[in-house]
Amino acid sequence: MRAIVTGAAGFIGFNLCKTLLSAGWNVTGVDAFRDYYSTTLKRKNAKDLLKYDGFSLIESEISEVDWDEMFGSHEYVFHLAGQPGVRASWGKSFNYYIHDNISATQIMLEAASKAKNIRRFVYASTSSIYGNAESFPTSERTIPRPVSPYGVTKLAAENLCHLYWVNYKVPTVSLRFFTVYGPGQRPDMAFHRILKALYSGDTFQIYGDGHQTRDFTFVSDIVSGIIAASSRGKCGRVYNLGGGHRVSLLEVIEELKSLTSRSLNIQFKESQKGDARDTSADISLASEELGYVPQVFIRTGLQLEKQWFESDVLGYYTGGDFK
Ligand code: UGA
Repeated sequence: MRAIVTGAAGFIGFNLCKTLLSAGWNVTGVDAFRDYYSTTLKRKNAKDLLKYDGFSLIESEISEVDWDEMFGSHEYVFHLAGQPGVRASWGKSFNYYIHDNISATQIMLEAASKAKNIRRFVYASTSSIYGNAESFPTSERTIPRPVSPYGVTKLAAENLCHLYWVNYKVPTVSLRFFTVYGPGQRPDMAFHRILKALYSGDTFQIYGDGHQTRDFTFVSDIVSGIIAASSRGKCGRVYNLGGGHRVSLLEVIEELKSLTSRSLNIQFKESQKGDARDTSADISLASEELGYVPQVFIRTGLQLEKQWFESDVLGYYTGGDFK
């Protein structure tokens, strides 16, 4: 089976590629190596993937790729590339979000509408499209009301996926990921920053009172959900992929302090514009139609992220490189 993974050198893309390659897929990764966070980490990911015979890499903007040729020689598309970051999407940066999240997706969908071979086009959406949801757990039937410009662009691209299915039969499936964590987590995300502060003695800034909750989802569960969607996902559908439980930021901090036996310097800052207060996924549709059942619960997942941080990342922060 031949797959295209956009954003292959990123956190989730890298984990997805490794799983597909280990299962014998051929994968063409596409990545522009944007410097929103350390390209050293992305380069390291790409280098690891290139060790697999079945992997090839196109380093490019999405707008520069020959999609007619790509879609002629691959059956599965996993579109994970995008401009991430909920809190950074205000002001002038919004242009990057429009370009990388909306326009790039439209370019791919337009080309996909002329392709004959594509069996599934899986799009990585986000829990940020819900904003401050009115009820928990939140189901896909809830009317989306993002509170960040980022969420607006991700929702726009999700709607594009739907309308290219309705009008052109591009077999799209959108997956709403709920705050993903685990080995490879992006350096701008909370757990990565907490671990960095625990080991370096830096101060971790808590936005708000720390009682905000997230349905944190371990990355291998997300990868399983993505792969299941490529075979069992119903075209035109949107599925929540959550971790199956809701935890506060302060609870996570306590757990990481206990796992590392370290103390953490904390500074409380005002809550950030664009942040939802709480998230919680109703995963019954994904469970029914994709067979999605999250396997990794928070303590185990935090332990695995901590191990990765110690072995692969810590050296980088102390003047070395990512392992
Ligand atoms: C994450 C990803 O960054 C988004 O790309 C993704 O779309 C989103 O999940 C989602 O699932 O919708 P977020 O939930 O903000 O966004 O994840 P974190 O950056 O790990 O933040 C988790 C919580 O910790 C938030 O309440 C945030 O305000 C807080 N936080 C984060 C801090 O208090 N301090 C920090 O330095 C970072």
